[in-house]
Amino acid sequence: MAPAYKPPAPEEKEAYVRQLFDQIAENYDAMNQVMSAGQWSRWHKQFVAMTDFEPGGRILDVACGTGDLSMLDAAQVLPGGSVVGIDISEGMMEVGRKRIAQTPYKDAIVLEWGNVMELKYEENSFDGATMGWAMRNVSSIPQTLSEIYRVLKPGARFVCLEAAKPYSKFVRFGFFLYWKTLLPLIDWMVVKTGRQAKVRPYTYLSRSLDSYPFPNELEQMFRDAGFKQVEYKPLMLGTVAIHVGTK
Ligand SMILES: C[S@@+](CC[C@H](N)C(=O)[O-])C[C@H]1O[C@@H](n2cnc3c(N)ncnc32)[C@H](O)[C@@H]1O
Repeated sequence: MAPAYKPPAPEEKEAYVRQLFDQIAENYDAMNQVMSAGQWSRWHKQFVAMTDFEPGGRILDVACGTGDLSMLDAAQVLPGGSVVGIDISEGMMEVGRKRIAQTPYKDAIVLEWGNVMELKYEENSFDGATMGWAMRNVSSIPQTLSEIYRVLKPGARFVCLEAAKPYSKFVRFGFFLYWKTLLPLIDWMVVKTGRQAKVRPYTYLSRSLDSYPFPNELEQMFRDAGFKQVEYKPLMLGTVAIHVGTK
C-alpha cells in the first residue's frame, strides 16, 4: 500500500517548499484561476483597496512567486516608484520575469532571490510590503513578521493576503471536504506525482492550513511583532483573509 502523506518537518520545510514551487511554477497561474473558481481577480481588487500605496513609493513583495502582487503594487506606485519582489523559488520568479517583461511595469519591478525570514535589506527601507498566499509556507510566522517589520519605514503598511481557516464549523467542514479531496487529485492528474512521490504539491497545499493560526490569532501575531492599527478582512465565507498592520 502507498504510504500516507506526511507533511515536511519544520527543519525540512524551506527546502520542501522551494522544490514544490519549482515543480509547479509553469502551471501555477492557470491552476490558481481554476482552484479559486474565478475569484482570483476579485480578491486582488480587495487587496489593492487595502494596500493604498502612493506614487513614488518603494515596495517589497515577499514570496512574490510569479509576480501577481508585485504588478498590482507597481501599478499603485508608478510613476516614480519601484517594487522589489523576493522568493526562494527561482522557478516561480523565472515565470514571473517573463510575465512582467510583457507589461508596462517591466522597468519598475525587480525579482530577486531572498528568504523572507532573513531579509538582506536595511531597516526602515520600504514604504510598504505585501505577501500573497505564502504565510502558510514559512517555517516561522513570528520571525517572518519581525523581519518585515524591521525593513519597513515608520508609518508603512504590511498587507498579507492568504487562505484562512474559517471559524464556522459548518463552513470548515465543506471547505476542507473540497480542499482535501479535490486538491490531492490535482497531484495525480495535473502534476502527475504518484502517491509515493516525496513532494506532492497539492496534497501539501491541502494540508498546509491544518497547523495555520485562525485569523484572530494571526492578527495578534502582527501586534506581537510590533504592528499597530492591525485589522483583517475575511472574504469568501472566511476562507480567505487580508491582514493589514502599520509600523
Ligand atoms: C503560493 S505561492 C504565492 C506566490 C505569489 N505571492 C502569488 O500571490 O501568487 C507561495 C510562494 O512563497 C514562496 N516562499 C515560501 N517560503 C518562502 C520564504 N521563506 N521566503 C521567500 N519566499 C518563500 C514560494 O517559493 C512561492 O513562490
